[in-house]
Amino acid sequence: MKKILLLGCGNMGGALLKAWADKTDHRFTVADPADPDLPKGMAHARSADDLDETSFDYLIVALKPQLIDDVLPAYLPHLAPSGVISSIAAGYSAERLAAHAPGRAVIRIMPNLPALIGKGVSGLYAHGSVTDAAANEIEALATCSGEIVWVDSEDMLDRLTAVAGSGPGYIFEMLRAYVEAAENLGFNEADAHKLVLGTVRGALELAQQSDQSLEDLRTSVTSKGGTTAAGLAALNGNDEFSSLIRDTLAAAYQRALALR
Ligand SMILES: NC(=O)c1ccc[n+]([C@@H]2O[C@H](COP(=O)([O-])OP(=O)(O)OC[C@H]3O[C@@H](n4cnc5c(N)ncnc54)[C@H](OP(=O)(O)O)[C@@H]3O)[C@@H](O)[C@H]2O)c1
Repeated sequence: MKKILLLGCGNMGGALLKAWADKTDHRFTVADPADPDLPKGMAHARSADDLDETSFDYLIVALKPQLIDDVLPAYLPHLAPSGVISSIAAGYSAERLAAHAPGRAVIRIMPNLPALIGKGVSGLYAHGSVTDAAANEIEALATCSGEIVWVDSEDMLDRLTAVAGSGPGYIFEMLRAYVEAAENLGFNEADAHKLVLGTVRGALELAQQSDQSLEDLRTSVTSKGGTTAAGLAALNGNDEFSSLIRDTLAAAYQRALALR
C-alpha cells in the first residue's frame, strides 16, 4: 500500500483515480481546487496549504500542461525523500518535470481516451534513477486502465502519442466517414451507425482472437472479382490509404516535436 497524491482530478485524472481506487489498495489523496466527485472517504485538498502529509510515495500530475509550472512546486515538499513524480500530462516532458525537482525519479504515463472505460493503451517512460519497484508500481496503476507499452526515450513517447494518444481521434473520424458513406448508400442514420460500429467491433474482435495475420484475414474475405475486392481496390489499390495513414501519424509526430 502506497501513499499517492493525485494533482488535478478532471476528466482523465478522475477516470484513472476511479479505476485505481477500485483495483488497488493504495491510499489516495486528491488535490484539486474544485469539488471533484471522489470515491467515498478519499482525502481531498483544495490547495497545498490543506495538506499535512509530507511523505507521499508518488505525486501524479494530472493537470493541464500549461498549469504545471505554476502549480507543481507547492506540492513537491509533500513528497517523501525517495518519492517519485509521475505525470499523465501530454506534451510536458519528463525533463521539464525533473527540472522542478532535481534528482527525483520521473515516470510519464501517456494514456489515451479509452482509458476512461478501462480499455486504453498507455505509453510509459522512466526518466532518471527509477527503481524497479517504482516502475512496477506505476505499471500496475497504468494497467488498471488497459494495456501498456514501455518506451526507452521521450522521443519514442512522442511517437507513441502520434500512434495511440491521438489514435482515437483518427478512428472516430474514420467511423464518421464510414457511417456517412453508408448513409449515402441509402441507410438511415441509426442503421448506418449500427452496421458500421457492429462491423468494426466484429472485425476487431476477430482480429484479436485469430492466429492469422491481418493481411491473411483481409485475403480470407476477399474473393477474386467479388465485392470486397472492388471496395479494396478503391480504398487502397495504389497504396493511397496506406500512404494517408503514414502521413497522418507523421503529421501528429511532427506536431509533438513542435510542441516540445
Ligand atoms: N483527456 C484525455 O484524453 C487525455 C489523454 C492523455 C493525457 N491527458 C492529459 O491529462 C491531463 C489532464 O487532462 P484532463 O482532460 O483530465 O483535463 P481537465 O479535465 O481540465 O482536468 C484537470 C484538472 O485539474 C484541476 N486543476 C486546475 N487547477 C488546479 C490546481 N491549482 N491544483 C490542482 N488541480 C487543479 C482542474 O480543475 P478546474 O476544472 O476547476 O480548472 C481539473 O479538475 C492533461 O495534461 C492532458 O494532457 C488527457
